[in-house]
Amino acid sequence: MPSTKEQLLERKQKRVSTMKGLILSGGKGSRLRPFTYTNAKQLVPIANKPVLFYAIEQLVECGIRDIAIVVGETADQIREAVGDGSAFGARVDYIEQDAPLGIAHAVKIARDYMGETPFVLYLGDNFLLGGVKPFVDRFRENGANCHILVHPVSNPQAFGIAEFVDGRVARIVEKPASPPSNLAVIGIYMFDHHVFEAVERISPSGRGELEITDTIQYLIDKGLNVQAEVLDRYWIDTGKMDDILEANRMVLQSLTPNNEGQVDERTRVYDPVILRKGARVVNSVLRGPLVIGEDTEVVDSFVGPFTSIDHNCRLKGVRVGGSIILEHTTIEETHWPIEHSLIGRYVTLRGGHAVGGSYSLTLGDHSQIEMPGA
Ligand code: G1P
Repeated sequence: MPSTKEQLLERKQKRVSTMKGLILSGGKGSRLRPFTYTNAKQLVPIANKPVLFYAIEQLVECGIRDIAIVVGETADQIREAVGDGSAFGARVDYIEQDAPLGIAHAVKIARDYMGETPFVLYLGDNFLLGGVKPFVDRFRENGANCHILVHPVSNPQAFGIAEFVDGRVARIVEKPASPPSNLAVIGIYMFDHHVFEAVERISPSGRGELEITDTIQYLIDKGLNVQAEVLDRYWIDTGKMDDILEANRMVLQSLTPNNEGQVDERTRVYDPVILRKGARVVNSVLRGPLVIGEDTEVVDSFVGPFTSIDHNCRLKGVRVGGSIILEHTTIEETHWPIEHSLIGRYVTLRGGHAVGGSYSLTLGDHSQIEMPGA
């Protein structure tokens, strides 16, 4: 649909001054069970910070202050973690989605909140290293009705996939059996109010959801201005354990070493290592990149690389690498190495014998494992 120069200019001005954010934070996280029986998947910490917080911070960095979070079954946990958004310099409201009816359904129920204001839709389990500002600025500039970001993936059957014709996005298909390309549409989208017409008109897909890909296809078919750009930075959908650990690796690598804790003279430190306030390390090896949270104690242990240990944990006589351990967890005298693991809060792991190789664990909060041989 052609726009006059005046219309484009008006749109740009409106975008620079307003724009809102819509973050989706529902879903069951079934691919991360049992961890997600007790935790919302968007609260899994990457370098000791919930993945959802990165999304909020990145929107705030674009000057976006009004953010709505669509919540489902884990609403209470999300509200408790984010509050009214003031800790992020934002005003956060919550929109309840009664059933997981799809991303486009979440957009539909956000209509009153958005009004006529253009917005960024950010899936709360998507992680983008380095933020979204250049892309949001581009959307503010180009006056498009929709701006999407694409990234090559090795498993295009698992994503919404974009097909380009003459440099323009022509078709978007959700999880295609025969993908037309390897360019996944990532879970960060920019829309103006035309999206609300689209989400009213589309029908549920085979999986019973209103798909965001069908929504964008509707806009394309209507002749609206849909822009796509190939991402120049690291992105990952953190729905699976491997992907979370990979995102954790990427973030840890990008952090600057910082020691606010205490390390005794028998401990060897190989940077980059971050020790938060009150962290105490005795007679251990810390092989960065790694982060150890506030008031966590590490004694007679080998930690790292690529490991995040949250606050108030206690590790004694253990070997842990490539893992994420949440707060208030105790691991003692395990004589078997822990690798590639996601361990919840208030977990106790004690004892055992080495039998060769390492152990990979996914444990929900309050798990208790006591093995003979402590
Ligand atoms: C969703 C979207 C898909 C998109 C993906 C990005 O998939 O439906 O189009 O490529 O997010 O993470 P889902 O997480 O529902 O499998």
